[in-house]
Amino acid sequence: MSEANKGYFTEENSAEVVVSRIADTTEPRLAEIVGAVTRHLHAAVKEIEPTQEEWLAAVMFLTETGHTCDDWRQEFILLSDVFGVSMLVDAINNRKPSGASESTVLGPFHVPDVPELEMGSNICLDGKGHPMLIKGRILNTDGEPLSGVKIDVWQTNDDGFYDVQQKGIQPDFNLRGVFRTGDDGVYTFWGAKPRFYPIPDDGPVGKLLASLGRHPFRPAHLHYILEAEGYETLITHIFDPDDDYIHSDAVFGVKESLLAKFDLIEDPERIAKEHPDGPFYEVVNDFVLAPKT
Ligand code: BEZ
Ligand code: FE
Repeated sequence: MSEANKGYFTEENSAEVVVSRIADTTEPRLAEIVGAVTRHLHAAVKEIEPTQEEWLAAVMFLTETGHTCDDWRQEFILLSDVFGVSMLVDAINNRKPSGASESTVLGPFHVPDVPELEMGSNICLDGKGHPMLIKGRILNTDGEPLSGVKIDVWQTNDDGFYDVQQKGIQPDFNLRGVFRTGDDGVYTFWGAKPRFYPIPDDGPVGKLLASLGRHPFRPAHLHYILEAEGYETLITHIFDPDDDYIHSDAVFGVKESLLAKFDLIEDPERIAKEHPDGPFYEVVNDFVLAPKT
């Protein structure tokens, strides 16, 4: 009988001994997940050969990560974000047919049940930053406009904070809105040109980034959730390609197809017609939804 079959634990057979304890009656997917995690964890420990102090430091890091979580803050998701794991899970679960818009991370600042607004409304309630017109169409993969699409958008203000990070400072629902397309599939609203901003970096994840010589910034973006009957829900962003952090997003959320054009409109005729207060930015971006499978 081999050591592993007897159940004795050795450095060499550590993973197999642990995995062999999983009962045959275990739900198969759980057994598969725990088996894979056990094997990879043991392989990592064998590669690293941590000292007892290093292992304790890892345990204390995870403990602090847990203590940083509350009803509002999820430091473990942030940890998954900065390791690129959130984006990997997103990629695996959102393989799109050709022509459909790509997804990216949801992030922690989405708010459910935001009031629905009329097309063309201004979601910038604090009046800060450069006014920006955001418009486009929601289409299917045949290029046909989709009506009745729920468009849920949110972005930071000109100081780089979401309204929920500055309760009592920013107006409620600042730079958030829900819109619904008509028969032409068109959406249009006013916001503010977004800026880069740091992910919450005052906790253990921020300390880890600093100790790795990594910055905590996300390039300027707007968040979207698009929902329509018969179509896969699309959680995505559009990004400013000229942002300093476009090639080093702290959470790896940038995809080439999500780069939009942020144009400064200085044409007097358009200013007179659309924004008499002066020049404004404009982003025109269509989204293509994949049919439900
Ligand atoms: C965000 O874009 O809102 C975000 C995404 C991941 C982590 C932190 C913030
Ligand atoms: Fe964001």
